Amino acid sequence: MRKAYFVLTVLLLISVVFQFYFAALGVFGPQGEDDNLFGFHRVNGSIVLPVLSLLAVIFAALARAGARTVWLTALPILLIAVQYLLFIIGGLVGGGDEDNPTVGTAVILGLHAVNGLAVLGTIITLMTRARARAFPKAGAVDEARPAV
Ligand code: HEM
Repeated sequence: MRKAYFVLTVLLLISVVFQFYFAALGVFGPQGEDDNLFGFHRVNGSIVLPVLSLLAVIFAALARAGARTVWLTALPILLIAVQYLLFIIGGLVGGGDEDNPTVGTAVILGLHAVNGLAVLGTIITLMTRARARAFPKAGAVDEARPAV
């Protein structure tokens, strides 16, 4: 179970790195309404990342990773919800429309990139912790076991 949890955190890391790449793909690709490349970013962000995160939470619990790690594993789901929330708040507070947003909207939507960094940072932390549990160093003191 610990190894499966670790593998999921690696998949999460790959997915989040692609998420940044897909954002750039959308920005630098064609900008037509039907032929833009933002679909990859949307699908990865709204399906792949949340599903992997959910599976990681389940496997963290099955691997008995501890309550704090299980909650930390759930954090990306909350942060992804914030990504959507920023679009809603940006529209409400800033005004303007999709094609011609105001500076206020842009200031709030810029946080989408910062929050993306928070998702990346959380996943790196999770992967580091999961690796330490899946592959404890030979000779390292296992605090869970009493010394003989
Ligand atoms: C973990 C990181 C990220 C996640 C989970 C994420 C998630 C999402 C999701 C789910 C959407 C679709 C929203 C909708 O359909 O209403 C979206 C849209 C968008 N994201 Fe991200 N995002 C992330 C990082 C970034 C970064 C780093 C950038 C750019 C610096 C970015 C730029 C955009 C843009 C420009 C859109 C609007 C695309 C459109 O026109 O539909 N995202 N993001």
